[in-house]
Amino acid sequence: MEIKFDNVSKIYHSSDGSRKTVLRDISFSINDGDFVVILGESGCGKTTLLNMLAGFEMPTSGRILANGKQIRGIHPSRSMLFQQPALIPWLNVKKNVGYGCRLRGDLEKLDYRVNQFIEIIGLSGFEKARPEELSLGMAQRVCIARALVGHPAALIMDEPFASLDTFTRAHIQEELVNIWLSEKFTSVFVTHDIEEAIFLGNKIVLLGGYPVGIQEIFTLDDKYPRDFNSLEFSVHRKNILKKFKNSYVGNRRFL
Ligand SMILES: Nc1ncnc2c1ncn2[C@@H]1O[C@H](COP(=O)(O)OP(=O)(O)O)[C@@H](O)[C@H]1O
Ligand SMILES: [Mg+2]
Repeated sequence: MEIKFDNVSKIYHSSDGSRKTVLRDISFSINDGDFVVILGESGCGKTTLLNMLAGFEMPTSGRILANGKQIRGIHPSRSMLFQQPALIPWLNVKKNVGYGCRLRGDLEKLDYRVNQFIEIIGLSGFEKARPEELSLGMAQRVCIARALVGHPAALIMDEPFASLDTFTRAHIQEELVNIWLSEKFTSVFVTHDIEEAIFLGNKIVLLGGYPVGIQEIFTLDDKYPRDFNSLEFSVHRKNILKKFKNSYVGNRRFL
């Protein structure tokens, strides 16, 4: 899916009645099959940006286009993965994975697809397990399978690995890259973690400043899987960190 942010701004009304510009004049393009990481400090508007891309809310001004058509609401071609695994507690793994497709009537070879994605995420043998029996990492894997089983053109992810332990996180990041390389969907991934951004993205969009705008777009053409210990990796980290520090907002946004 090709995605285009065209002069997107978002203004919220604060509790004291004042208007607060959260995002200002965001313009950038995502090519079909890209893995774009949106990187920025906490509170800078990353979730706001993704919610508009998902179609949960509309920009105050500007437009977001998916394959040339303005986004005006949610659509199954854009699938979402959240920070916390939001599984339905009374359904087992298999039923959770197939839930969205069943609801939409997307039933063709559904059983086959569900089993295929359960295998891809490494949870074969857990089909009958209920969410309460799963670790956080396993539950988030189930959410990945559920998000992909309908073969969306784009997968939108809002810090999906932020609450995982370091080891599970490293493993699941690698799995996500492998799934993306084989399934070829467009990825839009939000994080405040520079290393995660470098590990995953072929494009990193750095947000910052006040009101928040794009500070820089980094293009990374290094091969996958990326090596945290490589020279290229540390060069990227240094470049991004330098820019990150210059655009840090911190408490200013609350003034
Ligand atoms: N519905 C809302 N009403 C008012 N302010 C909001 C609302 N949603 C988010 N904000 C504000 O917008 C800013 C960006 O929030 P958010 O997109 O959640 O940031 P991030 O995901 O980068 O941490 C924050 O300062 C937050 O307080
Ligand atoms: Mg957020």
